[in-house]
Parts: sequence; structure tokens; C-alpha cells
Amino acid sequence: MAGNTRQTTLGASDGEITSLEDIDWTFEKADTSYLTHGLHSYPARMIPQIPDALLNYYKSEGIIDDGDTVYDPFSGSGTTAVEGRLHGLHAEANDINPLAVTLSKAKAEPLDVSTLQSARDDLLEHLSDSLERARENYEDGSSLTPEDLEIRDGWFPEPQLSELYTVSVEINQLETKYSEEIGRFFRIVLSAITRKVSYQRNGEYKRYRMPEEKRESHNPDVYDLFVTKLDKNIKLMREYSEQVDHSLNTTIHYADSRTATTNDDDAVEENSADIVITSPPYGDHRTTVAYGQFSQDPAIIAGGHGYDEMKSVDKTGLGGSNSELEPLEELEEWSPSFAATMDTLREKEGRSEDAMDFVRDYYEVMKEVAKILKPGQPSAWVVANRTMSRVNIPTHLITKELCEHVGFEYQHMLPREIPNKTLPWSNAPENVPGVTGDLMANENIVVMTAPDN
Ligand SMILES: C[S@@+](CC[C@H](N)C(=O)[O-])C[C@H]1O[C@@H](n2cnc3c(N)ncnc32)[C@H](O)[C@@H]1O
Repeated sequence: MAGNTRQTTLGASDGEITSLEDIDWTFEKADTSYLTHGLHSYPARMIPQIPDALLNYYKSEGIIDDGDTVYDPFSGSGTTAVEGRLHGLHAEANDINPLAVTLSKAKAEPLDVSTLQSARDDLLEHLSDSLERARENYEDGSSLTPEDLEIRDGWFPEPQLSELYTVSVEINQLETKYSEEIGRFFRIVLSAITRKVSYQRNGEYKRYRMPEEKRESHNPDVYDLFVTKLDKNIKLMREYSEQVDHSLNTTIHYADSRTATTNDDDAVEENSADIVITSPPYGDHRTTVAYGQFSQDPAIIAGGHGYDEMKSVDKTGLGGSNSELEPLEELEEWSPSFAATMDTLREKEGRSEDAMDFVRDYYEVMKEVAKILKPGQPSAWVVANRTMSRVNIPTHLITKELCEHVGFEYQHMLPREIPNKTLPWSNAPENVPGVTGDLMANENIVVMTAPDN
């Protein structure tokens, strides 16, 4: 597909698709960065073609309608929320990563582009001078970057770090003058370039530094990177903003989805969603995708978040050490696939406790989703099967069986190959350097309808 116009993935509205099984869910070579999906990267992003196809299908079947609500317990960068808005739906979501919350809001809430353009012009009028001053200050030893900016030493070229900090101060002022939404838009531009400016190796989601000889010649131009990304993002936002209904709501809770309906001051209402579309984490953040690690520097520099707050993200993710839940033996009775997995892990003296911690937490989210989704309405769980201790974990079957135990009714198991996903740790299962393994052969979309409660 040329350019960034929206790609409609199936002809449900033309009457071509009569069943979800007819869709090729692989969407090979599809453009996954159209409209605001292209504003910022995120690890293990769900491709937008999945919610697009599901929403098209369920609308064409009359199961959801304009003005309904889509809920996602694992928002990440907000793919479901953006697609919800593009299909005329309100969106609600949870995430425990503050950067994910910012991205989801920035991508899903349309902005008035003439105001955005004025804010851009305001900022650029003096940004170049401010950066020059930051550079001079750095060179004469009076850098304005605060001592307590909690960035680990040695991860950024220092003059550029002081420039990034200067941009963030300018954005704070812009936010005061315009609005929180405008500020957020600029923050995610700054966040997106932060990785490029750092010594982080390209294409890796975990923290790996480029080799020393490369670091010496790494001299990125912060102003150029920022303005190029800003203008690209404004163009994407303009296209998005023209296509969507500005009166819809997007509510992203910076809160745990294991307790979604009971979180103090930030709860999701029971019986409030007409459809759920989600891609849960593959496993605990420590040994699979470290969302917090990925987000740490951008969130500190561009979002004003603290080091401790960012450090706790990976521990609070499903299966992480912050969970207060006890292991739940009954899960093995309720899910034969989980029982078989646990038996194999125990036989091999593998990581059965980690598997239990993850599934126990995941099960809590299923129970919450059962409360939030209206009876009989569809939920789609896009899951990948990972390996642990070289044992394939059949997450799709575990999802089906435990959802059934909660009272959901099984509808479909839709397999998909992952054509070109960047697997951040594909060469290090169980974190053994140099050992390669087939961590995620494929994904499945598990479709279940909500219990009659
Ligand atoms: C696979 S990603 C979701 C990607 C998203 N669908 C997208 O397209 O960007 C899983 C997300 O779940 C979040 N997460 C993990 N544990 C959570 C919890 N207990 N409550 C809410 N969110 C959680 C992670 O921070 C991560 O952003």
C-alpha cells in the first residue's frame, strides 16, 4: 500500500467475508504503521489489521454498532483504541506502563491540527537557539541538565542528553500555553527520538549498547531528528484527525488490569464494554519482553517519570515479582493443557513456578474481563506460544480453557503465522546467550463470548 492512507483489510462491508475463518490473519506485507499507528514504536505491538478486521466483521454482523465501547486490558501502544476510534467506537483500556498510557492517548485522541501547527511554529521559533545554548553551556561546564535526571551513566552522548533535556523543558512550557493533549503529542515525538540519540543498539528492545568504537562516532543531530519526526507525526495526525469522530471518548487507565473493576479512583465499570480485543504479554516481562526497560529512558526524559516508577513496570507486569497472588493449584484442574505443561516442566525441573505465576495473574484478568464485557459479546485474545525451559507453552489452549472455566463460551481459534515480527530475544531463550530457539512459532486469536452473569 502506498503512503499512509488507511488500509481496510477485509471486505466484510462489501459482503465478501461471511466468517472469521475466511480471513487470512497473517496479513503478510501489510502496512502496520498507517495513520497514528506510525507515531511511535512499541515492543510486541499487535498489527492493526487484526482489530480492524474484527471490528469490521462484528459491525457487519450487527453485533457491535457506532457509539459502542471496545475494551483492552493490555493497551500497550493503543492499537485497539486507535482502531476503535476509526470504527466509530469509544475505547477504554488499562496498562501498568506509563509510557504505554501516554502513547495510547496520544495515538487515539485526535487533535485539532491547526492548533498543533501553531504549537509547532511556536516551539521551532526558538528551539534551535535553545539547543545551541544548551550545547554551549555543556561545553563550558555549566550544563543545565539536572544532576538528578535519573539516566544511567554511559547510555547517551552527553551533549545530546543536555539537548534532549532542553527540548523537554520547552515542551513543558508549550503544554502550559496550549494543553495537556498538545504537550503529550510533542512528548511522544521526543520519546521516539530518544532511543535514536542514545547508544542503544538499533532493532533491539532490550538494553544493549552499541560497541565502543561505534559510540565514539555516534553524533546524532537532535534538532534534525526532532523536527523530522515532528513533521512526520503531524502529517499522520492530520490524516487520522480528518477521518475520526472527535466526540468519541478514549479512556486509558494507568492501572492494573488484574483489578480493573476495583482500582481506586480509576476503575473500569462492569458491563460497560461491547467488545474486547487484546494481546496479552507472552509471559513475565523479565524473561520475555521487557516493556519497562524499553520505556525507561523515553519515559524519564520525555514524560517526567521517575527511575523507581519505571523500574517497577516489569515487576508489576503479569507473572512479575510484585504480584501478591498466591499460586492457584486448581488452575491445573480447570485447564488440562496447563496441567500437562506443568507436568512436563516439573519432569524437566524447568520453570514451573514462573509458569504458575504468569497463568495465575492472567486468570485474574480473564475474571475481570468477564465482568467488564456485556453478556454474550465477543472477546478476542491474540496470544503467542512461547517456550519455557524448552517446553512449548500452549497459551492459546490455556486461554480457551481458563476462559471457559470463567464462563466464556468458545467461538473460534484463528491461527496466524508471524511473518516479520521483530523478536527481541529470539536468540536467547531463558536468557542463555548464544542459544537459539523457536520461541514463538505462531500466534492464535482465541475468540470467546462473555458469560451471562
Ligand atoms: C503485548 S503488549 C500489548 C501490545 C498492544 N496490543 C499494542 O498493539 O501495542 C502487553 C502489554 O500489557 C501490559 N501489561 C502487563 N501486565 C499488565 C497488567 N497487570 N495490567 C495492565 N497491563 C499490563 C504491558 O505493559 C504491555 O504494554
